[in-house]
Amino acid sequence: MEINKNLARRDDLHLGKNVTIEENVTIGKNVLIEDNCYICSGAKIGDNCKIHRNVFIDYNVEIGNNVKIQNNNSIYHGVVLEDGTFVGTNVSFTNDKFPRSINPDGSIKTGSDWVLIPTIVKYGASIGSGATIVCGNEIGSWAMVAAGAVVTRTVEPYTLVAGCPAKEIRKISEIK
Ligand SMILES: CC(C)(COP(=O)(O)OP(=O)(O)OC[C@H]1O[C@@H](n2cnc3c(N)ncnc32)[C@H](O)[C@@H]1OP(=O)(O)O)[C@@H](O)C(=O)NCCC(=O)NCCS
Repeated sequence: MEINKNLARRDDLHLGKNVTIEENVTIGKNVLIEDNCYICSGAKIGDNCKIHRNVFIDYNVEIGNNVKIQNNNSIYHGVVLEDGTFVGTNVSFTNDKFPRSINPDGSIKTGSDWVLIPTIVKYGASIGSGATIVCGNEIGSWAMVAAGAVVTRTVEPYTLVAGCPAKEIRKISEIK
């Protein structure tokens, strides 16, 4: 386990086994980070977040307050999770719309050979288990993405979407 010494002293930060937290990470009050998580430099995690097992948080990722990230997730650079959002198990976020390992001449692509495409998950939105979120799409406030959906378009606020490609099933009139 490697963590910044200032964070290690805090009694409102609950850490599982084998957690790595790089330098320059900001973590709010009363945060849980379970086993085998890796938090990269520059990430910001708000208050009262629950980050369950096997979660990778990429560099400079911003996570708001009261966010719950279930097991086995990678929150890549360019993804923003606003306050109160929920990420189910095994969700696939993306940040490169046309990914390739090599250039046309066969040379290996470098970090500057691709275009970062952001994804924003707005206040109170939920993403079901196993969903895939194609980058460049916003998940609107209080929207819900069904388990296994493939989101290829922006999801309007208060809207339930499902399927591949994800389509609106209905509007959400009552938040439970
Ligand atoms: C989408 C969801 C919220 C719908 O729940 P619901 O309102 O009770 O809907 P129902 O179960 O009555 O299903 C309504 C219709 O949507 C379909 N449906 C439900 N879930 C679906 C899904 N994940 N993908 C595709 N279609 C789905 C049903 O088959 C049904 O279709 P039909 O009317 O043709 O029979 C729920 O199924 C879901 O996926 N929840 C997310 C669970 C999850 O991932 N939790 C995370 C825990 S880590």
